[in-house]
Amino acid sequence: MHPLLSLSVFWLLPLALTLEEDSPLNSVPRRSVPYNMVNAHQFHEKGVSNYSTMLLREDLDLLVLGAREAVYALDLKDISKKLASVKWEVTQQQKDECKNKGKDPEMECLNYIRILHKMEDDRMYVCGTNAFDPECDYMTYTDGKLTLQKKQDDGKGKCPFDPFQRYASIMADNNLYSATSMNFLGSEPVLMRSSPVSIRTEFKSSWLNEPSFVSMAQMPESDKSEEGDDDKVYLFFSETAVECDCYNKLVVSRVARVCKGDLGGQRTLQKKWTSFLKARLDCPVLDSQLPYVIQDTYLWCDPQQHWKECLFYAIFTPQADTSDLSAVCAYRVSDISRVFAEGKYKTPVPVETSFVKWVMYSGDVPVPRPGACINNEARKAGITQTLDLPDRTLQFIKDKPLMDQAIQPIDNKPLLVRRGSAFTRIIVNEVQAADGNKYNVMFIGTEEGTILKAVNYDGEMFIIEEMRLFQLPEEIKSLKSSNVTGQIYAGSDYGAAQIPLASCHRSSSCMDCVLARDPYCGWDKVDKKCIAISDSQRELIQSVKEGNASICPAADPVKPIDQSIWTGGNMKLSCPAPSNLAKITWERDNQPLNPSARLQLLQDGLLILNASDSDGGRYRCKSVEHSKTEEYTTTVAEYQVSITSDKDRQILFPEAQKDGPSVAGLQAVVALLVVALLILLAWNFYKGHIPLPWNCVKKNSEQSQESHEERGLNSNVTYQEAPRPVPAEDKPLVSGRDSSSNNNHTGGAAEFSAAGEETVNLPSLQYIDDESEI
Ligand SMILES: *[C@@H]1O[C@H](CO)[C@@H](O)[C@H](O)[C@H]1NC(C)=O
Ligand SMILES: *[C@@H]1O[C@H](CO)[C@@H](O)[C@H](O)[C@H]1NC(C)=O
Ligand SMILES: *[C@@H]1O[C@H](CO)[C@@H](O)[C@H](O)[C@H]1NC(C)=O
Ligand SMILES: *[C@@H]1O[C@H](CO)[C@@H](O)[C@H](O)[C@H]1NC(C)=O
Repeated sequence: MHPLLSLSVFWLLPLALTLEEDSPLNSVPRRSVPYNMVNAHQFHEKGVSNYSTMLLREDLDLLVLGAREAVYALDLKDISKKLASVKWEVTQQQKDECKNKGKDPEMECLNYIRILHKMEDDRMYVCGTNAFDPECDYMTYTDGKLTLQKKQDDGKGKCPFDPFQRYASIMADNNLYSATSMNFLGSEPVLMRSSPVSIRTEFKSSWLNEPSFVSMAQMPESDKSEEGDDDKVYLFFSETAVECDCYNKLVVSRVARVCKGDLGGQRTLQKKWTSFLKARLDCPVLDSQLPYVIQDTYLWCDPQQHWKECLFYAIFTPQADTSDLSAVCAYRVSDISRVFAEGKYKTPVPVETSFVKWVMYSGDVPVPRPGACINNEARKAGITQTLDLPDRTLQFIKDKPLMDQAIQPIDNKPLLVRRGSAFTRIIVNEVQAADGNKYNVMFIGTEEGTILKAVNYDGEMFIIEEMRLFQLPEEIKSLKSSNVTGQIYAGSDYGAAQIPLASCHRSSSCMDCVLARDPYCGWDKVDKKCIAISDSQRELIQSVKEGNASICPAADPVKPIDQSIWTGGNMKLSCPAPSNLAKITWERDNQPLNPSARLQLLQDGLLILNASDSDGGRYRCKSVEHSKTEEYTTTVAEYQVSITSDKDRQILFPEAQKDGPSVAGLQAVVALLVVALLILLAWNFYKGHIPLPWNCVKKNSEQSQESHEERGLNSNVTYQEAPRPVPAEDKPLVSGRDSSSNNNHTGGAAEFSAAGEETVNLPSLQYIDDESEI
């Protein structure tokens, strides 16, 4: 078969299957929360960067944070409070050696903390890259102090040499399982268990082929197992596909697993895994010809349910910048487990001279099954540990660790596909909503330092909000959540940030609260507030599946705000959209208003330029938002605009003068003042009160000239900004829940850029907040 043809059959088949189904591509978050509205607790220490390793110690109320050359113990309730820290710096000698090997002394020859795990005795195990010479140590937190025990433990195979290389590790039963590179060049990948007997992967491209490790998780599969199965450790990674006979390198996503009880073989696979099996992991994204590449996973289990009900949530990005889509796929652990336990294997077949093709193996499979854990059947045959396994089984698995069948996500399609900044990390939190159902809420970190909060409601993807955690677009490099504190913790190169799982206060009306469809939040009819369900004893209004806002009590009517403009003046009527999904429309005297050059629609309001008499009237700003069930219209703001004629302007706004005559007037006043000052000074000089006043006077007159010129320029185009309506509870001016959604909170939140960029492009256009500026 032609290589390209085989490639297309290989990848397009599952694609074709998913194309017919409707696309989950619903990529607009209902609300965008800018940095200054998120109010995250932040941690950053001057001179320290790369805060990318985290360990939650809920038992000690700590967030342990690993950065470059330092580890911090932060208060889990408020990470801006540093409780302790310890430095772990490389010596000058280590730095020099690293530099001599050709590495960058300021970037690579430092100690990046990469591994932080809790041990059974409550100590912590820490590893760092240590100037391309990885090292591990034990760390304690006692009497409010973090202490490294200086028990230099070789970090080879546990921690990467190269701080830029991806790795994965977990601590299971006090044994460290690590997936990283064993050597300085980063060319010898390994999946290793460090103790008691160190077991690792065979160094063969059919086992690991230029892998990029992503994550690890353990699964208690011996629990209630009828076959007497063993517990497993799963590893997620991507690697260059061996099974694809294509010209170019093709990266595929994989899941591999080993049995915890594996001790290696007797002669074959000595001190190597006898249970290493891997399979391809698919996440079919609509427009993609090439498979998407796995970036992170989150294991979600319901504590009340069997492990078979556990799910892996995984995020994927395209290979080789082919698009800007990212996706989330979810996999049942039972589906993965079944492929390894019952699936067929792939086997290499030599074709032509130096070419190997991987095809399904259809010959006899030895007993015990290759790659299986020691189970009751093996025990019956007298095989009680992997050391007893026959060579035939071991040789088979040594040559054929790859399963034929790929693992498909739930419903054979992604839960979420989104265009925009690439996904980097994911966590999932379960919450019980007011309807009694439990929902899995995904929190997804992106390359640009934002976190998406998304829920899948019966196949419909809904992004509740996107929050910007860091002032600069810093990639989210680690993400954790604590169900004890109800907080999310994120790490980046710049620092760490903490936000609550729920921020219900961002909705200030019942309609906004219900349309947000946030399962954490509901509307309290009595207090007239959107609050967290977990904080309330009362029954709250919520409709997460439908977003049915008809269940809200009728909103009080909006009271209009009086505004006046002089003819020829400019004015902005504020109306921030409560949501990115809402459409804003304006009415004047109950007639739809058509935008024109003089009436410009802004993201957060209406701009009236060069007002004329016909611009007076009742302006109403309405927001129309679709939910799943219907369309909801709310009045966000109302203004009674009156036009003051040119003649009255002088009387009404004497200070608001502009243009020719007013500038001339100002000039006259300034000139008069200067003259008066000069006379005063001259008199003083004449009287001999001041010895040499020349410099002083000159400076003064220059200054007044400058400021006067500035003002002249600025008064070219100015407009008054109508006061923004404020929430009902703050001011009686605008009452009712409808209008209260229109506060500064949501206003600023409508778009990240809303505050910074206006869509009007007028030269030297300027807001005048304070009339004294005019
Ligand atoms: C460490 O942080 C700096 C920015 O402070 C970044 O440029 C660099 O790539 C980071 N290094 C690693 C290994 O992530
Ligand atoms: C928090 O999560 C852990 C597992 O991550 C679970 O064992 C524990 O019961 C949870 N606690 C609460 C209060 O939900
Ligand atoms: C929305 O809620 C109202 C009031 O409870 C109800 O009458 C209506 O049937 C609901 N609509 C849908 C589509 O569920
Ligand atoms: C303002 O409008 C008047 C007519 O209503 C027009 O004569 C004048 O040129 C306009 N001014 C500007 C700056 O557009």
